[in-house]
Amino acid sequence: MWAPVTWLDTVEAALSEPGARLVAMVDTPFEVRPLDESTWPAFAALVEANNGIFGGCWCIGFHPEGTAGSATANRDRKLERVRAGTTHAALVFEGDACVGWCQFGAPEELPRIKNRVAYEKGMTDPPDWRIACNYAGKGHRRQGVATAGLSGALDLIAGLGGGRVEGYPEDAASVPAGFLFHGALSTYERLGFERDRKIGKHRWVVSTRVDPT
Ligand SMILES: CC(C)(COP(=O)(O)OP(=O)(O)OC[C@H]1O[C@@H](n2cnc3c(N)ncnc32)[C@H](O)[C@@H]1OP(=O)(O)O)[C@@H](O)C(=O)NCCC(=O)NCCS
Repeated sequence: MWAPVTWLDTVEAALSEPGARLVAMVDTPFEVRPLDESTWPAFAALVEANNGIFGGCWCIGFHPEGTAGSATANRDRKLERVRAGTTHAALVFEGDACVGWCQFGAPEELPRIKNRVAYEKGMTDPPDWRIACNYAGKGHRRQGVATAGLSGALDLIAGLGGGRVEGYPEDAASVPAGFLFHGALSTYERLGFERDRKIGKHRWVVSTRVDPT
């Protein structure tokens, strides 16, 4: 019986070739832009519309300094990093509105990952980059925002010289989506990451290699 060929069929066929690898290829209605001073207002509007993220984290929790005593202090810390160029994220835009993001950076920029003790116990070779926080704003979930964000982060990493990239996702079937801080395992696997080792009940270290562009 005839069936229409979708973009996913094409990707799966390409991946069945020996040695084939998918780095970042997502058919998406979204546009990805880096977090910087020009995109800060849109990012800040999304954070504010979502109560500061977990009551005021402002996406500072994975950075070395961690969260401060108040949401305002966290916002100030984040803005300071944006101005200094010491924080990285692929922001997902729908028109002019930022609807989600995927944070990434060098391990020194983002040391405070979940299950850090177990991670460090089994670590042999540190990655060049790691993916930290994945977020899709409320009202924009289950529409591919996180997938577009991760794909966009890999593109930005390619532009910054590429290298080995790690992520620390969990299986979305085992953990409520609201607590998938590092995103869903299936999203990473769809974009070419492979499982390395387990560092929590449901958390995996996954990695992929990104060529520079
Ligand atoms: C986890 C999260 C990022 C997913 O974002 P999303 O834009 O809805 O995800 P996508 O639509 O791109 O889907 C990605 C995958 O996750 C799966 N998924 C997403 N939400 C799911 C849910 N509620 N139940 C089961 N699977 C789910 C999708 O089915 C998809 O799987 P596939 O790749 O196999 O098709 C989002 O739910 C979120 O932001 N949660 C809060 C996490 C958070 O607070 N982060 C910041 C604090 S550090």
